[in-house]
Amino acid sequence: MDRIRIIGGTPLKGSIPIGGAKNAALALMPACLLTDQTLTLTNLPHLVDITTMANLLAQHGVGMALNGDSGLGGASGRALDLTAAEIVNTTAPYDLVRRMRASVLVLGPLLARCGRARVSLPGGCAIGTRPVDLHLKALEQMGARIDLQEGYIAAEVAGRLKGAHIIFPQVTVGGTENLLMAASLAEGETVIANAAREPEVADLAHCLLAMGARIEGIGTGTLRIQGVERLHGAVYSVVPDRIETGSYAVAAAITRGNVELVGARMDLMDSVIKVLRDCGAEVTATERGMRVRADAAELVGTDIMTEPYPGFPTDMQAQLMALMATASGASMITETIFENRFMHVPELMRMGAKINVHGASAIVRGVPRLSGAPVMATDLRASVSLVLAGLAAEGETVVNRVYHLDRGYERVEEKLAACGARIERIKGEGAE
Ligand code: EPZ
Repeated sequence: MDRIRIIGGTPLKGSIPIGGAKNAALALMPACLLTDQTLTLTNLPHLVDITTMANLLAQHGVGMALNGDSGLGGASGRALDLTAAEIVNTTAPYDLVRRMRASVLVLGPLLARCGRARVSLPGGCAIGTRPVDLHLKALEQMGARIDLQEGYIAAEVAGRLKGAHIIFPQVTVGGTENLLMAASLAEGETVIANAAREPEVADLAHCLLAMGARIEGIGTGTLRIQGVERLHGAVYSVVPDRIETGSYAVAAAITRGNVELVGARMDLMDSVIKVLRDCGAEVTATERGMRVRADAAELVGTDIMTEPYPGFPTDMQAQLMALMATASGASMITETIFENRFMHVPELMRMGAKINVHGASAIVRGVPRLSGAPVMATDLRASVSLVLAGLAAEGETVVNRVYHLDRGYERVEEKLAACGARIERIKGEGAE
């Protein structure tokens, strides 16, 4: 298993290209199941999770053709044709779903197109129990019969799904995405209240519009969908990844560097930019994206609470914690989305960070310098937070279990090395 070795202490300088958003792509790809025509996604990132979704779709019968680099920024964008001319299998097996929870996003489209779907129930994961009860209740409201059998969600509907008024008691990104896709092919109007407003949800809605869906309220908490009988093919470009952008913004700040993030969408990052500025980093718009610099700054701690969009994203919490660990003064970081998303804390503490966790909050007291150590993490964002800490630490850090990073960060070591980081991937052998 690969490891990443970092010698910390070099301020990053240069530019980093931002790829298409993993979490948008993971919702856009299953949208191809809604039509027998071709959906072409451009600016698709090259990541393990994208391959897992492609494998899942292939076994449902989706034909795929990769059309090389889409040429967008010449960075990482790929173009993929997805054609679900005929759906040959409506089961999403345990073996694929257990590897990636986003697999549950085939449920809504399969049910809407084929009238049935069997999807393995995703289990808990490293950041929490993460049930899908809200997805299921909402689909039941649309007329689906749902049974849980032998670890599988067995869903069926006679005829088409029916429009319904759905009020999500809690904001759910995946739930909103599943319902958007299901409602696009349902009979009549569906209203989703307390819908997730995340940019990845809006990206899916815009793609569905391009496929012929009728959706109002995109980007707001109330989505109104008039179901149509059929959708058609489209060509759609995946939105730039705001979490990848934020992660490299922290890399610039934590190394007291100066980096341009090429292709970044600043307008989707208000809460993260505010926190970076509150700590003393300079964030400015450039013609190609945005620039983050902290080469002349003394960074100070600031408090953060994760919330649904437009609040501060839970997917940036671990990275900000690494930054706060090196800022002066204290910061309180409160996680409100997932119940167990502090798995990076003990590893950061092994690098000399001073952190106390009390329930859903962590108090971080900044230290002048972290020190390198062998570390590992059990989820994607925790892993990248350890890479960030390693970039700032004195000496050598080796991050194990790099496969978590490969799920969500494309060529992470190349992008950082191009800005002067001393970082390398060590291939293979016994690294757990
Ligand atoms: C998406 O997960 C993202 N994944 C996550 O990114 C992200 O952390 C999360 O949204 C929150 O922003 C993808 O887009 C593929 P939710 P999702 O449904 O859709 C509870 C990363 O690192 N809930 O908004 O699964 C749930 O347990 C990943 O890239 C229910 O109780 O998140 C959680 O506490 C990790 N019942 C909260 O709601 C349900 O039926 C929010 O979950 C659904 C959710």
